[in-house]
Amino acid sequence: MRRCLPWGEVTPAAMAAMFAAEAARWRDTLAWDTAPLWPVLEQARVTGALPGFVLREDDGRVAGWTYAAERDGELLCGALSAPDADGTARLLDDLLTLPAAAAVSRIVCFAYTDAPRLAPALAARGFLLDPHEYLTRPLVAVPAARRPGRAWDVRDLDATADLFRASYPAHDPGRPFAPHGRPAEWQRYVADLVLGQGCGRFRPSLSIAVPGAGDALDAAAIVTDLGAGTAHLAQLAVRHGLRGAGLGASMLAGLSASCRAAGFARLSLLVGASNTTARRLYARAGFTSCAWFVSATRAGRAGEGRHDVTAA
Ligand SMILES: CC(C)(COP(=O)(O)OP(=O)(O)OC[C@H]1O[C@@H](n2cnc3c(N)ncnc32)[C@H](O)[C@@H]1OP(=O)(O)O)[C@@H](O)C(=O)NCCC(=O)NCCS
Repeated sequence: MRRCLPWGEVTPAAMAAMFAAEAARWRDTLAWDTAPLWPVLEQARVTGALPGFVLREDDGRVAGWTYAAERDGELLCGALSAPDADGTARLLDDLLTLPAAAAVSRIVCFAYTDAPRLAPALAARGFLLDPHEYLTRPLVAVPAARRPGRAWDVRDLDATADLFRASYPAHDPGRPFAPHGRPAEWQRYVADLVLGQGCGRFRPSLSIAVPGAGDALDAAAIVTDLGAGTAHLAQLAVRHGLRGAGLGASMLAGLSASCRAAGFARLSLLVGASNTTARRLYARAGFTSCAWFVSATRAGRAGEGRHDVTAA
């Protein structure tokens, strides 16, 4: 009988086949080399550090999987792979039975997944959806352009977090990061981008800081390396009051030229479906759609009654 079981119960070989298929999908469709991430995930699986589930078919074959990580009072689901809609629903339901799902204030699913019927399954379980589009532009014919500001420096960490906090709406429960807009949430977000591997390897020399008054920044762009010849614009922000004067466009032109000079073949980014200003900017700069990521949020039981379902 087809059933879900904790992913710690299956062999490393069965998981390796699943991870290899996922790595190939990221590489072939997104030009994103995820090879460094799988050994870390496998280690977390075998040691029980991260809970997850697999879908096992009648014949014993593992056909789907998912996992979640608890962090800062949130449960984060980073992947869900399933062969059909029934598998998608079963894995999702099992994730929601985790004790952590009851204890956290928010459940976030941000994933590149082709699990059949995932979006309706999430919506049916009370998730608010704001899908993110993965856009790319080739860098082969990028003209030389002067880069505004200077290269990003590690001393810009706090000022970058302050700039991002001022650049986004204060409170946005549908946002996958910094939902309450607290300084600590934004500092954590920036630290993850520059120190973590989840969004590629940070490249400070290709990133931009535009100094403002005192220690503040007026604008910043965070660029990472996804391997496979892809540079990734992980975040771009211009302070209110300076917007609409072409600074965002000139940062984009300048960093595209420096990424090309550094040998990258393409530039990619993720943008929320509802972020119309940024989407217009990227369309004008020649970015086109490559894939969609699921971004869905829901109150956990500890946050029920406090989850405002305003779209991002
Ligand atoms: C997205 C963002 C970086 C754009 O920065 P920006 O400096 O305002 O970008 P630009 O000025 O180059 O372009 C934005 C608009 O100004 C217009 N503009 C550009 N140059 C102009 C000029 N000289 N005079 C008047 N308007 C101008 C553009 O046509 C564009 O208008 P449109 O969106 O209505 O078509 C900024 O809005 C921001 O920080 N948003 C919050 C963070 C965010 O969402 N980041 C993207 C994450 S994916």
